[in-house]
Amino acid sequence: MKVNITETVLRDANQSLIATRMPFSEFEPILGTLDKAGYYSLECWGGATFDSCLRYLDEDPWERLRKIKAACPNTKLQMLLRGQNLLGYRHYPDDVVRLFVRKSVENGIDIIRIFDALNDITNIKTAVDETLRCGAVASGTICYTLSPIHNPETFVKLARQIESLGVQSICVKDMAGILTPKEGYDLVKALKENVKVPIAVHTHSTAGLGFMTLLECVKAGADIIDTAISCFSGGTSQPATETMVYSLRQYGYETGVSPKICKKINDYFKPYKTEVLNDGTLNPLVLGTQADVLHYQIPGGMLSNLVAQLKAQNALDRLDEVLAETPRVRKDLGYPPLVTPLSQMVGVQAASNVLAGERYKNVSTEIKNYIKGEYGKAPGEINPEVAEKILGGEKPVTGRFADTLEPEVEKAREYLGDTAESDEDVLSYIAFPAQAEAFFEKRGQKKKYTFKYDVKEIT
Ligand code: CO
Repeated sequence: MKVNITETVLRDANQSLIATRMPFSEFEPILGTLDKAGYYSLECWGGATFDSCLRYLDEDPWERLRKIKAACPNTKLQMLLRGQNLLGYRHYPDDVVRLFVRKSVENGIDIIRIFDALNDITNIKTAVDETLRCGAVASGTICYTLSPIHNPETFVKLARQIESLGVQSICVKDMAGILTPKEGYDLVKALKENVKVPIAVHTHSTAGLGFMTLLECVKAGADIIDTAISCFSGGTSQPATETMVYSLRQYGYETGVSPKICKKINDYFKPYKTEVLNDGTLNPLVLGTQADVLHYQIPGGMLSNLVAQLKAQNALDRLDEVLAETPRVRKDLGYPPLVTPLSQMVGVQAASNVLAGERYKNVSTEIKNYIKGEYGKAPGEINPEVAEKILGGEKPVTGRFADTLEPEVEKAREYLGDTAESDEDVLSYIAFPAQAEAFFEKRGQKKKYTFKYDVKEIT
């Protein structure tokens, strides 16, 4: 029996443990080894990597992708895409979504895992369609969550709808690490009985469930599991690759992943882990087991963001109150799954409700837009009193919000003119305007400097 392994060290492990601060130069020397490990795929792009490259690392995210592709020609490169939100926090019109998907594939992506934070499939259909047109693998995603309105039957129904879009696999995405071994087994079994495409399982070790859950999901027939090389595993990250490979083998499952090569990869990352622990980038808090998330349903990334946010405001002592407020905010919003961008939005709102001393005194534009329906259909009913307080007299939107948006690609091309050296630049600008412009500016200065230097050398 074969179980495929997706290694997440470059994307989700990096994002969940160290807020995606690992620069390309840090993992460049190990890429050739990662390519030989025998992974089904290497998750290396999307999620927060794009934003982090521009905002913090002074890297061109597209160039990062091309370099990874050049160094890993034999392993499928995988990215995570938030459907109509792409990698940002707002809805983009279809022309942007299509060009973004096309350029991602052209620059090296083989598999695009596409999700919508609200499980609203009208928000993933354009990205799925374009992925298929580009000849890449489209993996449709179910955002797993617990609530009075989510259960195995509703997830199976959703999986059937996603399958009908033509996806080549379906991923159960448990971003909060709350999927238990029993629930995982039952859900995967139900999915295997009702859909034909392979099932991938993505979870986090936050609550200590991850290893058991992956094992049970494999026993129920899961075809692909996500794991992280051991020194970047556990806690808010994924269960460890080597541990899963070792255990699965005893049950008769072959992963094709080489334990010897995993050892090399792990040895390579160990000194970097010590470095980020020492400089504070990796907070030891996120490495432990936090069974509290079973109650609060806080995804790994969200928990580390909340800790960072409260620390910056000198209010880390109020973490427990904010964690208790989070499920209340979620209920008010109609039980959205806590996944980016909803996880950040709900987290920030919960923190604001606690720190301001009054619920919904301060409300972000994003929360307001969500209540207006600009993110898609909320899974459940939004608390009418809260909606009234936030919207006042404003009317919510009806239908698919992206259909109301004007095309943006041509406008952005015109605006940028020569500043954009490629369509990739145009997309960086559309996704993160301020960060992209700052990046282009620095890039231009670097080029000028290099040019002057060259001239001096020649004369
Ligand atoms: Co994740």
